[in-house]
Amino acid sequence: MDVSSCDVLVVGGGAAGLRAAIAIAEANLNLRVAVISKVYPMRSHTVSAEGGAAAVIKPNDSLDEHAYDTISGGDWLCDQDAVEAFVNEAPVEMLRLEHWGCPWSRQPDGRVAVRSFGGMKVERTWFAADKTGFHMLHSLFQTTLKYEAIQRYDECFVTKLLVEKGRCQGVVAIEVATGKILAITAKAVILATGGCGKVFPFTTNGAIKTGDGMALAYRAGAPLKDMEFVQYHPTGLPLTGILITEATRSEGGWLLNKDGYRYLQDYDLGKPQPKPVLRSMELGPRDRLSQAFVKEQAKGRTLEGPYGHYVHLDIRHLGEKLIDKKLPFVRALCRKYVNLDPVKEMIPVRPVVHYMMGGIHTDIYGATPLPGLYAAGEAACVSINGANRLGSNSLTECLVFGARAGQAAAAFAAEQKETNPAISAQARDEQRRLEESFLRKTDGKERIAPLREEMHKNMEACAGIYRTGAELKRAAQVLRGLQDRFHDLQLDDRSYTFNTELTAALELSFMLDVAEGIVASAFARQESRGSHQRTDHPQRDDDKFLAHSLAYRSPEGPPRIEHLPVTITRWPPGQRVYGK
Ligand code: FUM
Repeated sequence: MDVSSCDVLVVGGGAAGLRAAIAIAEANLNLRVAVISKVYPMRSHTVSAEGGAAAVIKPNDSLDEHAYDTISGGDWLCDQDAVEAFVNEAPVEMLRLEHWGCPWSRQPDGRVAVRSFGGMKVERTWFAADKTGFHMLHSLFQTTLKYEAIQRYDECFVTKLLVEKGRCQGVVAIEVATGKILAITAKAVILATGGCGKVFPFTTNGAIKTGDGMALAYRAGAPLKDMEFVQYHPTGLPLTGILITEATRSEGGWLLNKDGYRYLQDYDLGKPQPKPVLRSMELGPRDRLSQAFVKEQAKGRTLEGPYGHYVHLDIRHLGEKLIDKKLPFVRALCRKYVNLDPVKEMIPVRPVVHYMMGGIHTDIYGATPLPGLYAAGEAACVSINGANRLGSNSLTECLVFGARAGQAAAAFAAEQKETNPAISAQARDEQRRLEESFLRKTDGKERIAPLREEMHKNMEACAGIYRTGAELKRAAQVLRGLQDRFHDLQLDDRSYTFNTELTAALELSFMLDVAEGIVASAFARQESRGSHQRTDHPQRDDDKFLAHSLAYRSPEGPPRIEHLPVTITRWPPGQRVYGK
């Protein structure tokens, strides 16, 4: 086993992780920072973000309006102190990213351009054509390279957090290329590992988004917050689930049912407009648009293809020039993955799992209840997204709360003495577990793929856009059964070099944990709010559920759920009104 140490260890090399690493290096020149990631940082899922990042910049906008749109979009489940911090710091972060090299798209007069986005009543989404995530990640990555204090462990898979004397003090990881076990001690650890869309079968998420950080924190005793809130993006390509950005609708694209009718006008989202306008019904919030799709399907007004029901996204009227300038990636994706040119043909789309509003419970500085452990980005729930995130808030969230978590972890680390030597015994135990449970085991009967497939089917059938208590109860039982069967897993690959069967097994075990968190939280929330729609409890119930769900791991059995009041500062709960 290789043992090394640093002062602050960041797990995850996407936007939140890299922003945190820079913040630590800037906060305290004496700290040794390390970034560990299971993929090379530029392959992190941030790279695939398309449409943009929200922050107030134009004179017709205000911080309060950004806060209000976010809070009403989140169906009043956002912590309003977190939202206020977010909207205040967002413009500074976005400008800083420009100074670090992010090529924001411009207006003809040279000023930064912004586009409208779902649920935002003012244009405030900064963008870099439709490859925003790629450019943001590149700018962050090249900035980290300037700091000698930032060391990297690329393609190393973290399997466990080291906790001793009630404090997180490092991680155990596998170096994927060699199978070597690494114990990395740290005075503080930041989890920035992204979401867990891969718990579902049909998702925009890359294969790496398996809830690793969420499960690591949960196993170490930190609760997962608001896991029942799973965002479906209304426009994914059937079969692959590849995202067709909301920017298509911001530029004026239409959603049409099988009769060529702009069906969203029937769902309280506004009326059709002759040309793109800010409050266009196609730019309603994602939860409402995805729910409208399901209702339209129930009325028999969607189209049916080999990969399920779909509707049409029509951008033909935008013209080739605009599409090539502002949506070039959409055109490339359509040509490559559905063999059509959106300049001439309509795009088949359907709702697809895109984002987790829930995640590791943190305060507004990214601190979890476990001392020394911090979280940021999609892995965390701060919470600014409530029951439904508005498109383009998440990239900015990675910057604002990545920086905050970095600063807070740096301050914490500076006050700690050396890490406790007893944790090396824990690291050896973890090495033994990996050997005995996976690499040297010969008598297992189960294989990864069938277990994963059953988890997928179960989550899609019981924890999708609409849910009932009975379905969720069944889902919880199935997941318990899968947890039991996982103990009987057999790997065929015993090698130490790029053993992707081993990492797939570890990912599956992480996913089973977070899936149980999703299902148990959804079962306990007997109301409908934002993306969580219980047909057996169809109303929002502020008396009982103006509260966050906290899922705690119990040693044997399903998670224990507790509730925590939402922080309301200036915006008392109200109705969500769109299209007026
Ligand atoms: O549609 C999109 O471009 C997605 C953006 C987001 O999830 O923030």
